[in-house]
Amino acid sequence: MKTTISVIKADIGGYVGHSGMHPALMALAEDELEEAKKQGKIIDFFVAHAGDDLELIMTHTKGVDNAEIHELAWNIFKKGADKAKEMGLYGAGQDILSDAFSGNVKGMGPGVAEMEIEERPSEPIVVFMADKTSPGAWNYPLFKIFGDPFNTAGLIIDPKLHDGFIFEVLDMKEGKAIKMRCPEEMYDLLALIGAVEHYAIKNVYRKDGIIAATASTQRLSYIAGKYVGKDDPVMIVRAQSGFPAVGEILEAFSLAHMVAGWMRGSHWGPLMPVSMKDANCTRFDGPPRVVALGFQVKDGKLIGPKDMFDDPAFDLTRKRAQDITDYIRRMGPFEPHRLGLEEMEYTTLPSVLEKLKDRFFKVD
Ligand code: 13P
Ligand code: 13P
Ligand code: MG
Ligand code: MG
Repeated sequence: MKTTISVIKADIGGYVGHSGMHPALMALAEDELEEAKKQGKIIDFFVAHAGDDLELIMTHTKGVDNAEIHELAWNIFKKGADKAKEMGLYGAGQDILSDAFSGNVKGMGPGVAEMEIEERPSEPIVVFMADKTSPGAWNYPLFKIFGDPFNTAGLIIDPKLHDGFIFEVLDMKEGKAIKMRCPEEMYDLLALIGAVEHYAIKNVYRKDGIIAATASTQRLSYIAGKYVGKDDPVMIVRAQSGFPAVGEILEAFSLAHMVAGWMRGSHWGPLMPVSMKDANCTRFDGPPRVVALGFQVKDGKLIGPKDMFDDPAFDLTRKRAQDITDYIRRMGPFEPHRLGLEEMEYTTLPSVLEKLKDRFFKVD
C-alpha cells in the first residue's frame, strides 16, 4: 500500500486581523475531517494553524492531485469562509479565489504540498507551516538540509546520504521547472535559489528518485494578478534512515533567516521558529514564523503530532529573530526592510507613480 500525505492550507479569515485563527474554524475543519475519516475518504488527519492560515494535514491512499481529496479540502475552506463571514472575521475567504471547484485546488487560492510514499517500517516526517512569508522562504532551509554538510552531518558521514540529492526548482514567474543535482551542480543551484522571489524549491529527491521533501509553491499574487496576500507556504520533509535526521532537518531553522512577507506582505524579516502555542503573528503582524509538527506515519495513521520547536534549544534563535526585528523595524519604509520595487508592484506604488507621472521633468 502506498500512503499519500496531503497538506492543504488556506487563509479563510483571520482572528484578530491577520494575527491568528479562531477556534471555531479549527473545530469546523476537525468535524468535517472526522466525518471524512468515518466515510473512509481519508485514513487520518490533523488540523493546525500557522497564524491566520488553516492547515489540513491528511493521509489517504488516493495519490497526489486527487480530485476527491482536493474537493474535501475546498469544501472545508468554503464552509469555513462562510462561517468566518458570519462572524465578521478579518479577510474572510481571502484565499478562495473562485466560486466553483474545478477538480484541483491548485491555482484557486489554497496552498498544497503532497507526497505519495512507500512507507518504511518507521516513517518519521516533519510538516512545516509558515505565516507571513512566501514559498521562497523554504529555499534556504531546504538547501541547508539536503545540500550543506555544515548543517547535515549525514551528507559526509552517512553512506546513504553521501551521494547527495536532486532539487526540483520552480521558476514561479515563468511557470517552468528544472531538476538539478547536488553537490555536482551546487553553485548553479545556489545561483537560482538565492533569488527567493523568483525561484522556489518544489521537491527534493534522493538520487534514486525517491521523494524526500515537497513544498507548496503557489503564488497568490501571480494567480490573481494583483496583491491578495502572501502565500504562507507549507512543506513535508521525510527523516532518518536514508534521509537527513530529524535534528538535521530542524537545525536548518536555527538562523532565523530573512524572508519576504510580514506586514502587508511587503517587508523582509527574520523567520522565527515557534511552538504551536506561539503561532500567532503580533508585532507588525509578525515577525514571520514557522511551526513544525513531527509525526510517525504508520499504515497511513499519523502518530503525533510532536510540536518540534517547543524546545528551549530554539530560544536563542527566537531571541535573535527579535533582535533582528527590533533593528530592521527602525528602517520603516526604506529598503531593504521594505521589499524592492518589483515585488511592490501590486501595492500602492503604481498609483503613486501614476499620480506623479506628469510632474517628472527631464534633466541633462
Ligand atoms: P539513521 O541512519 O537511523 O537515520 O540515524 C541517524 C541519526 O539518527 C543520527 O542522529
Ligand atoms: P496574510 O497573508 O497572512 O493574510 O497577511 C497579510 C497581511 O497583510 C499581514 O500584514
Ligand atoms: Mg490573512
Ligand atoms: Mg497568513
